[in-house]
Amino acid sequence: MKSQLRKILPNKIINQITNMRFRMKSILSRYMAKNRFTSALYYFIFDFQYHREQQATLAGKNTYQANEGVFEKSSALLRRNTHRLEKGLIMVPRKPIFAESYIIETVNCLSQCLHLNTIEPAELKWAQDVLEKYFKSVDHCSVIKQANELFEKLPLVDSQSSIQSIPYLYSERIISNIDSKALHQLFKQRRSTRWFDNKPVDIQVIKQAVEMASQAPSACNRQPFQFYTITDAKKASKIAAIPMGTKGFAENIQALLVIVGDLSAYPKERDRHVIYIDGGLVAMQLMLAFESLGLSTCPINWPDIELYEKQMDKALSLEKHQRPIMLMAVGYGEKDGGIPFSQKKSAEQLIKEIS
Ligand SMILES: Cc1cc2nc3c(=O)[nH]c(=O)nc-3n(C[C@H](O)[C@H](O)[C@H](O)COP(=O)(O)O)c2cc1C
Repeated sequence: MKSQLRKILPNKIINQITNMRFRMKSILSRYMAKNRFTSALYYFIFDFQYHREQQATLAGKNTYQANEGVFEKSSALLRRNTHRLEKGLIMVPRKPIFAESYIIETVNCLSQCLHLNTIEPAELKWAQDVLEKYFKSVDHCSVIKQANELFEKLPLVDSQSSIQSIPYLYSERIISNIDSKALHQLFKQRRSTRWFDNKPVDIQVIKQAVEMASQAPSACNRQPFQFYTITDAKKASKIAAIPMGTKGFAENIQALLVIVGDLSAYPKERDRHVIYIDGGLVAMQLMLAFESLGLSTCPINWPDIELYEKQMDKALSLEKHQRPIMLMAVGYGEKDGGIPFSQKKSAEQLIKEIS
């Protein structure tokens, strides 16, 4: 719009219009922020910043519904319901009957996933092991009896493993041998690194780091993200140059991960922020995993700007319900490259005690 106006109007007039628009918007925003209705009106009429997010949320909801929460390699619905069953199984005291409202849905979803033949076997095993445990543990009221009958007819996946993917005791959990001092050192070792050796990053190392990072928590264990991975240094630099935070060092990036959130994991708007939370948590684990494998990283901000969004959608062939969350440069840190000191806030500054 602005570039079209530039063709027909002198720059001075364009600048005056831009300034007037800016002033008008800042006056309006002050008044319209006073309640939700006028705020919504403001973003409907004067500022379109939230439109993409709204479209992505709606597209996600529609895609979820059209697929009934089941996608090619994973099912958001199966993962969520299996998680809910596991929570029910560990409740103290455990209820003799629970999950009546969604047990038929869960068994039907597992059936759909089994017939698809494309879902990750470990995901199917988790669901079927938990369901087996559930049916052994609860009283069989009519709904649960019906669900159990459906479950028993399913062509369950054959598991080689004798280990059951079911809840276990806290005392049986894996214990790491890292003490807090070593962990603190690792946190300090990880620093945003912008200068890398001219050395390719093997996809196998990235897979190893992602495998480690995937242990991150996520809402209802849905893990609604994917890592779009570019190990070709030239292409990595080109995509890394799309957002503005990489000026001056994009050319130096050896490998790049774009963490993409998927809003089709949710049937309801209330969960629209979860992709950013889960994506942020896994990104942190990923950076530490890389660090432990001898690689360094730099998180890169993804600003919601029309032009960049279009470029990234095209570069990665993203769907409307997918949102880039952030980018991550990965490589072997250059010995003589600089690292900003980046003073951290103290616990004193960060903790607000509530009595
Ligand atoms: C979400 C996020 C976005 C960031 N975006 C950029 C970026 O675009 N460009 C950049 O050079 N650094 C970026 N950083 C790195 C920060 O500048 C850096 O984390 C911060 O200054 C603290 O330094 P440290 O990571 O070494 O502890 C980003 C960090 C985060 C967490």
